[in-house]
Amino acid sequence: MTPATSLFAPVEADLLILADNLKQLVGNNDHPILCAAAEHLFGAGGKRIRPAIVLLISRATMLEKDITPRHRRLAEITEMIHTASLIHDDVVDESDMRRGVPTIHSLFGNRFAVLAGDFFFAQSSWYLANLDNLAVVKLLSEVIMDLATGEIQQGLNLSDTSMSIDTYLKKTYYKSASIIANSSKAAGLLSEVSEETAEHLYGYGRHIGLAFQIVDDILDFTSSTDTLGKPAGSDLKSGNLTAPVLFALEEIPSLEVLIEREFVQTEDLERAIKLIKDSKGIQRSRELAAHHAHKAVEHLVDLPPSESRQALIEMADYVLSRLY
Ligand code: IPE
Ligand code: IPE
Ligand code: MG
Ligand code: MG
Repeated sequence: MTPATSLFAPVEADLLILADNLKQLVGNNDHPILCAAAEHLFGAGGKRIRPAIVLLISRATMLEKDITPRHRRLAEITEMIHTASLIHDDVVDESDMRRGVPTIHSLFGNRFAVLAGDFFFAQSSWYLANLDNLAVVKLLSEVIMDLATGEIQQGLNLSDTSMSIDTYLKKTYYKSASIIANSSKAAGLLSEVSEETAEHLYGYGRHIGLAFQIVDDILDFTSSTDTLGKPAGSDLKSGNLTAPVLFALEEIPSLEVLIEREFVQTEDLERAIKLIKDSKGIQRSRELAAHHAHKAVEHLVDLPPSESRQALIEMADYVLSRLY
């Protein structure tokens, strides 16, 4: 689903510039196959939620002044890091579709996809260094570490039915919330906000990021492959136990057997999905996502009222609205 244009209205022109710049930045290398990979993925779009948040925070903290080329570059770097992580994630998850088009590994093979992901991470680090702001470099470098940490933690916890919600949320911070939290704070630093405001921006991004991923985990159960632009129903199948499953396990202990034998018997997976959908797992996950979306908004009280701040508030509703 594409966000209502009104939500991104204050940064709509900025997002068009971003799309152009991204193509230039990633297309500007010597390797035709890397260009093809970049064109393929960046051309396919994506919701651009992360750069939209960076740009909205930039505008909400600069107010009457215009945002700087550094703010723009930060938004571009954030989307580059995110896209690189998706190229790797699709290798790990063996996913064939992304943004409605075939994934890099399914077109060019795993070896190339791993190297292409590395290349885009390295390229984003180079642009990051060129911002000449050490604090921002540190924040975004941490994101790249966190993304790998999150994927590894998820891999180590596969099919672990004793996993707590707390462990799930920690992993979710690493794989999804860290990038929004740290890039939000970095946008504030580029606007030279106070330390207190910078921490609030971090808190906003952290909670929005958690809500976004919990919603994404719910959609894996409730949505279709067509709507998602990527395969639905694949988390449980691969043993990735997300919020709906962890809540359902508290209610239906028999689900444990199906998960632990990795759905070897026919209809195990279908039975498990039905048990989860009939449980309170989805509803409790919705409540958890809503909790984090509300927490996010609380961190915006500090910012002066503006169109961009209002859009950041509505972003919380948008994240939850993907569920309906
Ligand atoms: C996909 O992110 C990875 C998750 C954190 C769920 P998005 O859903 O934002 O993907 P694009 O960028 O819109 O393709
Ligand atoms: C996406 O995670 C990758 C990161 C958030 C780093 P998932 O595997 O959970 O999401 P999709 O379903 O592929 O987008
Ligand atoms: Mg995946
Ligand atoms: Mg994954």
